[in-house]
Amino acid sequence: MPKETFADRLRQEMERQGAKQVDLIRMAAERGIKLGKSHVSQYVSGKTIPREGILRFLAEALQVEEDWLRGEGAGRAAEESGGKPFAGANVREEGGPDGEANVQAEDGPDGDTESGGKSGRGDAAGNADKDSETEGDQTEKNKTERNGILGGRNMREFKKSSKLDNVLYDVRGPVVEEAARMEEAGMQILKLNIGNPAPFGFRTPDEVIQDMRRQLVDCEGYSQANGLFSARKAIMQYAQIKKIPNVSMDDIYTGNGVSELINLCMSALLDDGDEILIPSPDYPLWTASATLAGGTPVHYICDEQAEWYPDMEDIKKKITDRTKAIVIINPNNPTGALYPREVLQQIVDIAREHQLMIFSDEIYDRLVMDGETHVSIASLAPDLFCTTFSGLSKSHMIAGFRIGWMVLSGNKAIAKDYMEGIKMLSNMRLCSNVPAQSVVQTALWGHQSVESYVVPGGRIYEQRECVYNALTEIPGISVVKPKGAFYMFPKIDVKKFNITDDERFVLDLLRDKRVLLIHGGGFNWKEPDHFRVVYLPRVGVLKEFTEKLADFLSYYHQ
Ligand SMILES: Cc1ncc(COP(=O)(O)O)c(C=O)c1O
Repeated sequence: MPKETFADRLRQEMERQGAKQVDLIRMAAERGIKLGKSHVSQYVSGKTIPREGILRFLAEALQVEEDWLRGEGAGRAAEESGGKPFAGANVREEGGPDGEANVQAEDGPDGDTESGGKSGRGDAAGNADKDSETEGDQTEKNKTERNGILGGRNMREFKKSSKLDNVLYDVRGPVVEEAARMEEAGMQILKLNIGNPAPFGFRTPDEVIQDMRRQLVDCEGYSQANGLFSARKAIMQYAQIKKIPNVSMDDIYTGNGVSELINLCMSALLDDGDEILIPSPDYPLWTASATLAGGTPVHYICDEQAEWYPDMEDIKKKITDRTKAIVIINPNNPTGALYPREVLQQIVDIAREHQLMIFSDEIYDRLVMDGETHVSIASLAPDLFCTTFSGLSKSHMIAGFRIGWMVLSGNKAIAKDYMEGIKMLSNMRLCSNVPAQSVVQTALWGHQSVESYVVPGGRIYEQRECVYNALTEIPGISVVKPKGAFYMFPKIDVKKFNITDDERFVLDLLRDKRVLLIHGGGFNWKEPDHFRVVYLPRVGVLKEFTEKLADFLSYYHQ
C-alpha cells in the first residue's frame, strides 16, 4: 500500500469539512499570512509541501493536529468524530488580521515552498484583496505591502523580485528542505542529492592544503579582477594541453566557483528575449542564470537511447533568429555522459552554420573512466567564439574553497563587445577568492589524486559499478552507464508504478526510506520518469541505498 502523503491528508480533511482552496486562501489573507492560489494547489496536488508556519496555519484552519497533518501523530483532530464545520466560517465573521502575526513572523515573508511563487495579497490595512484568488501581476507584485502589525503600526512586507518567478534550483529545493526538517526531528537521512565530494571522504591532495597555508598571509588583499597571474598562467598552460586555441592571459578569468562565472556570462550576453540552447536534462544553474539574465532558455533533448548524447535534429529544430548560443555540459551532470569527438564535431558544425557562441561546462573533465579521454569542444572550433569552464570543486575535491575559471578562445574578433561586458562584470565583483586562487597552480600541475579514483579499484570507478549493477537488477529501473563525473540518471517505468509526479516520488522515497534524491524535473527534464543519483558515498552505503530503493519499489504506486 502506498503511504499516505501530506497531500492525501490535506485533501481528505478539506473534503470532510467541505473546505475549498479559496477558503484557505481567503482565511490566510485575513490573517495577514501569505498564501497564494498556486501554493495551495501545489500542496493539494502533492507537488510541494508547506513550510512549518504555513503547515501550522493549515492545521489551525482545519482544526486538526499539526502532527497528524505532518504525518507524525496518530490523532487527526480534537474532534475526530467529524461533522465539524470548516473553521474558516468563524474566522470570516471575525474578519481582519488577528493575533496571527506570529505565524507570519516565524515563517518569514517568504513562507511558501514554491520557487517561483506568486501569492494572494493583502492591502495596507492587512485585509484580503477582493481578488486575492487571482495571481498578482508584475506591477502588483512589485508593490510594497503592509500586512503585519507591530505596535499598532502597519508593517511593510518585502517580496522577492519577480525576476525569480521562473527560476528553478531544486538541487537545494523543497524536497531538500523536507529532508532538513526530518533531520531536525532526529532522523538520519542518506543524502544523494548534491555533488559535494568532501563529506564523503574525498580529500584534496595534502600539497594543496600545505600550499594554501603557506600563502594565506599573502592573500589578504584583492587580487587583479580576472585573477592572480600564477593562477591564470597555470590555467593557460592547461588550456594549451587541451588544445584550446588563441588564448592569452587576458582571456582567462577566475571565479568563486564556475557558478559565479556562469551567472556572469549569462548577464553579459543575454538581452530580454534572447534565446540560448541548453541541454535537457541540464545542470539547472544554466537555465536559472539564463532566465535571471532575461534570456529565454530553449532546451534541446539529450537522447537516452544514444548514450545521452545531444540530439542534433532537435538542436537544429530549436534554432531561431534569436538564438545566440549553445551550452554543452561535458562530461555531463546529471547523466554522466562523455561526448566523443564526432558528437562534438557535429555540434560545432551546427554552431558554425548558425553563428552561435559555444559555452562548454567542463568541470568534470578529469573525472572520466573506461580509458576514455576528454576532448574540449573549443579545440575543434578555432573559427568560433567559445567559453570553456572548469575548476577545482570536483576534480580536486575542494568545492568549499570556491575556485573555478573560464577561458575565452577562438574567434575573439567577433566577440569584442561581449568581452568588454565580461570584463566590466568581472571588475564589478572586484576579484574571486584569493586564497583559493593561490593553489590553482599546485592543484593543476601537482599530484592528481583523482587519477587513482577513476580506474578499476578506485573509489569513483567501483562506486559506479556498484550502483549501476544494482540498479539494473531492480524491476522497473533502467540506466545508461555513465563514463564521466559521478552521477547517474536512471529511468523509472512510470506505467509500472503509475508515476505521474516525479517530485512526489522522491518525496515519498524520502519519507519512507530516508534517502534523498533529486527528481528529473529538477534538471529541466520534462517527463516524470527520471531521478539523479550521486554515487559519491562508499560502496557499503550505496548498497544500502539500492536495497532501500528496491524495497520501496516493490510496493510503491502513485
Ligand atoms: C555541471 C556543473 N557546472 C558547474 C557546477 C558548479 O561548480 P562550482 O563549485 O565550481 O561552482 C556544478 C556543480 O555541481 C556542475 O555540476
